[in-house]
Order: sequence, then C-alpha cells, then structure tokens
Amino acid sequence: MTPSLLIVEDEALLGQELQRHFRREGWEVRLAATLAEARTQLWGGEFEPAVVLSDMNLPDGNALDLLEDAREAGLPGEWVFVTGYGSVPDSVRALKLGALDFLEKPVDVGRLSLVLNAAVRTAHAERRLTDQAAGEEKRYAPQAYAGDSAAAHEARDMLARLAQVPFSALLIGGETGTGKGLAARILHYAGARRRGPLVEVNCAALPRELIEGELFGHEAGAFTGAKGRRRGLIEQASGGTLFLDEIGELPLDLQVKLLKVIEDKSLRRLGGERVIAVDVQFVAASNRDLETEVRENRFRADLFHRLSVFRLVLPPLRARRDDIRQLVPLFIREYNAKAGRRVARVPDAVWAKLAAYDWPGNVRELRNVVERCVLLAEDEIFPERWLQLSAAAPAPAASGDGVWLPLDGSLSLEDMERRLVEAALTRADGNVTGAARLLKSTRETLRYRVEKFGLGKG
Ligand SMILES: Nc1ncnc2c1ncn2[C@@H]1O[C@H](COP(=O)(O)OP(=O)(O)OP(=O)(O)O)[C@@H](O)[C@H]1O
Ligand SMILES: [Mg+2]
Repeated sequence: MTPSLLIVEDEALLGQELQRHFRREGWEVRLAATLAEARTQLWGGEFEPAVVLSDMNLPDGNALDLLEDAREAGLPGEWVFVTGYGSVPDSVRALKLGALDFLEKPVDVGRLSLVLNAAVRTAHAERRLTDQAAGEEKRYAPQAYAGDSAAAHEARDMLARLAQVPFSALLIGGETGTGKGLAARILHYAGARRRGPLVEVNCAALPRELIEGELFGHEAGAFTGAKGRRRGLIEQASGGTLFLDEIGELPLDLQVKLLKVIEDKSLRRLGGERVIAVDVQFVAASNRDLETEVRENRFRADLFHRLSVFRLVLPPLRARRDDIRQLVPLFIREYNAKAGRRVARVPDAVWAKLAAYDWPGNVRELRNVVERCVLLAEDEIFPERWLQLSAAAPAPAASGDGVWLPLDGSLSLEDMERRLVEAALTRADGNVTGAARLLKSTRETLRYRVEKFGLGKG
C-alpha cells in the first residue's frame, strides 16, 4: 500500500516544501490551502488519505471542525495537527476527537517524518481490520444461509429479522449440521454488534475444571495454577456476542452462574470481589432437545426459559430436500476453488441418489459428500461412485434376533446407532416403548434418538 497524505496548510511555501519532502519519501501527497478544499478532497471519493496533516487555524475556520465532521461521516485515516501557538483547549479537543498527535511550529521535518510514518502504520493496520470485518459481514449476511425451499426462506427471514433486534439472549435449536454455527455468525455480523467481537465457546470441548475459569475469568491465585489475572470469555465478548455452542453440555452449577450474568449484566471473576459490568449478547445452540433435558433435570428450567425468549429452530435437510439443488453447486464451486478441480456436471443418477437419501448429518454431511466427490473427480463430471450414501442402501439388515452392520468404514458410529434404532423400531412395529425394551434403554432416551434421527412418523 502506497502511503497517502493530505496536507492542509494555508502557508503556501510551507505546504509546498512538505509536499516535496513526503513525495520524495514515497508518499502520494495532495495539498489543500483551505478547509473547503480539504473537504472536497476528503469527500470527493477518489482520494482516501491514510494520514491527514493539518494546520489548526485556516482562513475559513478551525480544522477541528473538519475532523469532527470526518469522524461523524466515518472517514478512515489518522490525523496529525500542526499549529503556530499551542493552545491547550484545542489540543484537548483534538485528542478527544481521536487525533493522533499534535506538533508545534516551526516543525522539524525529521520528527514530522517519524510521526507520519507511525501514523500510516496505525492507519493501515486499522484499515486491514475494517476490511476484514467488512469481508465477514458479506460472508455472513443472511443470504449465506442458502436454500430456496419455503423452510429455508422462513429461516433466512427469521435470521434477518432477529439480527435487527437487540435481544440479550437467544437459543438456536436444530439437529447436528443444520447450520446453527452459521446462524450464530449471521446473527452477529448482520446485527448492530457486528463491529464488536464474536467469541465462540464450545461447552462440550472444555473439561469441567477449565470451563468456569475460561468463561468467568479469574484473579491471580484464584485456584492452583491461576497465574495472574485473566479476563474470561464473557468479558472478552463485551460490546459483541458470545456464542455458547452445545450449551446442553454446560454443568448445572455453571448454568446457574450464567443465568445470573445474563440477568445482572455483570459478573465476578473467580477469586475476585469486584463486580464487573458486561455488555454481551448471548447466543446459545444445542442439538439436544433441551425441553427433554429440562424434564430429566439435566438442564435448568430457568436458564432454558431465559434463553428461549428468542428461539430459532433450524429445519433438518430432509425437510427441505429441494435445497439440495442449490447447496450442491455451492459446495462444488467451493471445493473446485479449494482443490483446483473443474467439476461442472452432476448426472441425473447422482441427483436422484442425493434426493432419496435421508441426510442424518444434514448440510454438514452433504458438504462432506460433495467435498469427497469433488476431490476424487477425474474430469468435469461429478463421480457417482464416491457418493457412498450409507442409508441409501436397503433399510437396516435385521437377521434372526440380531442386526448386521458392515465394518468396512462405510458407516459412522452415528449411522450405526441410527440403524440400530431403526431396526428396533421396525421389529417393535413402530412402538417406541417396545423398541426401547429391545435396546435395553428407556422410552425417553429412545424418543430423543427417534427425533434426532428423524425416524418419527411423518
Ligand atoms: N443453509 C445453509 N447454506 C449454506 N451452508 C450451510 C447451510 N446450513 C449449513 N451450512 C454449512 O454446513 C456446515 C455445518 O453447519 P454448522 O456447523 O453451522 O452446523 P451445526 O448446526 O452447528 O452443527 P452441530 O450441531 O454439529 O454443531 C457448515 O459448513 C455450514 O456453513
Ligand atoms: Mg455447530
């Protein structure tokens, strides 16, 4: 990036000398002799200086008013001021408006050079951050949730609407792979908190002993091994969103503590006395049926009700099979680009198999299947032989009193579980209690799995 500089200076000689100097140092430099000229440059849209070097008092006014307008308009760039006689009130206002530095005339060009080079580094770093955030905003607009089915439209509309609501807590439900993580990112990046942090925690991934300190932070010596003070993830999400994935795995006592943070908007670090205010939007997700978990005392009813004031349940892929038509080309394009393939044609036989399959792993499973097929493709045709859709094979093979399951890597443990449940249900003529007895399990546990695998009637 060529460093760019706008000099606002009414003393023509000084202005020209500075312009020559910084051009020699490799800067792109423009010169303005009045505030009006500077305004034209800044708002003109074709020159976006990384640094503005401005005299304080100009023929048509005070440059701080220009800075104030520029900040209000959200124009990027660092500002450095030069002035004939340092006036304290001015410098206070300049710093309040976020000016980077304040130099007195006569300026020493060597020192000015140092200051401006530091300024351009800050400006560029900041622009990178803004560009990155802008990229995420595009990537996670509600449209990122793809699909043309009625169910997809509804989910997308809900996402767009919820992103506009200043909710403090929200719960996303839906089977594994239905896009809960994607939805959480959309809610953050399409919402008012997009410029704040998005912090993600997977409650299932952290061991019990660590999760409390991770979430709430700790003071030095709060527990053995707590070296120094640490801000927890909730505090780190301040001004933004905390995404609590797999909230169903959070231990009960921490559920109580979390509810308190949501309600009080404040917390105490472990081993700390001080109450710290936190301004966080909580998005929680679970692929477990939390209502069942509440009934079985594995999830706190009060937290469940607090989280589900706003609730979004994402549909399983088999309830929106039409969307396979949009999702497959999307994923093909993605893996073509990643792996340098050129798959362009999906044979009818492949479409037929994709449409007939039940997709227990939902969109994630579809994406993985497309990845495998694109990576193994030899030409522009989507290869049918690598589909390997397990359950597309004839229904569970029950023989005698048992069930036969292939151990050739074609079935995941979850697929096997699904087949077992399916077989038991078939054997029990669809009666869940009967099937539970065959699996030496409880009716509740089985009902949970029937729902999870979408084996219920209808
Ligand atoms: N509607 C959709 N459009 C495009 N991509 C999607 C859609 N739904 C899900 N995906 C993609 O599918 C993959 C799985 O989604 P995600 O990780 O959000 O699922 P999940 O519901 O969080 O699953 P789990 O419960 O297992 O954590 C991701 O790569 C995600 O981007
Ligand atoms: Mg997830």
